[in-house]
Amino acid sequence: MKTVYFAFPQNEELTKKLVQQDSESESGNFEIRHFPDGEIYLRIVSDINLKNIVLVCSLNQPNEKILQLYLFAKTAKSLGALKITLLSPYLAYMRQDSVFKPGEGITSTFVAGFFSSFIDELITIDPHLHRIQNLSEIYSISTKVLHAAELIADWIKKSVPNALIIGPDSESEQWVSNVATKAGVAYTVLEKVRSGDKEVKISIPQVDKYKHHLPVLVDDIVSTGRTLIETIKHLKEQNMANPVCVVIHPVFSEGAFELIIQAGASKIISCNTIQHLSNGIDISPLFVSK
Ligand code: R5P
Repeated sequence: MKTVYFAFPQNEELTKKLVQQDSESESGNFEIRHFPDGEIYLRIVSDINLKNIVLVCSLNQPNEKILQLYLFAKTAKSLGALKITLLSPYLAYMRQDSVFKPGEGITSTFVAGFFSSFIDELITIDPHLHRIQNLSEIYSISTKVLHAAELIADWIKKSVPNALIIGPDSESEQWVSNVATKAGVAYTVLEKVRSGDKEVKISIPQVDKYKHHLPVLVDDIVSTGRTLIETIKHLKEQNMANPVCVVIHPVFSEGAFELIIQAGASKIISCNTIQHLSNGIDISPLFVSK
């Protein structure tokens, strides 16, 4: 019995590739729209009775999508679907992983608990694991994490001669060191303090011995872009070349892409975990042996 893949809006290209590379799969059809009052209308057109299904939905701008996925999963179960896998290349709600100010909640945990109540399996790429070190700490369903490091390292090896990889904060060390080792190049990691959504301070990079290298900023998520913008500012002050920015999850809220280019990035390249014009590293091969 073939597994049926459903592409949520803006996940069509990736889903097409996934179906092409898995002979045991087929594409499913469904209709989703809003009623005039804003409520969600959903109809699953394909036959999914006694079939496993995969919902491909990256969770940038996540709130509406989470409700759509909930309604889809409940409808699918009512139509006889067996296992429901959520394939979410970008997993949202991972950064509120602690109570930073009195009155807050650990929303990572709440959202994970909610997904675990209606999904059977989760597959994702490089989720933002910091204070939570493993998805199994917050998800009670089976989870699988894939990593883009190898693909990013290949891209850097091919495209950036004499690279120095720079991670903007201690959280980034996990993927930055991995990418640098795989690409066989040097790396350094900076210190970051965030005091608000758009207020970020980055330590001055000690790059004296790398003056003739081409800096490559690597980060997992770019949202407001403030982390990269602040880092670029420091690199300019140190007379380094305009950096290349490599991003795993191109969330790019509120014009962030343009702001990073204006700040002096020579190029921004991202993985297609979220559809964006900066996509240049295809993550679909990661799913071949899942
Ligand atoms: C957080 O620690 C992440 O690794 C990123 O550095 C962060 O999400 C980037 O956010 P922004 O683009 O809003 O500075």
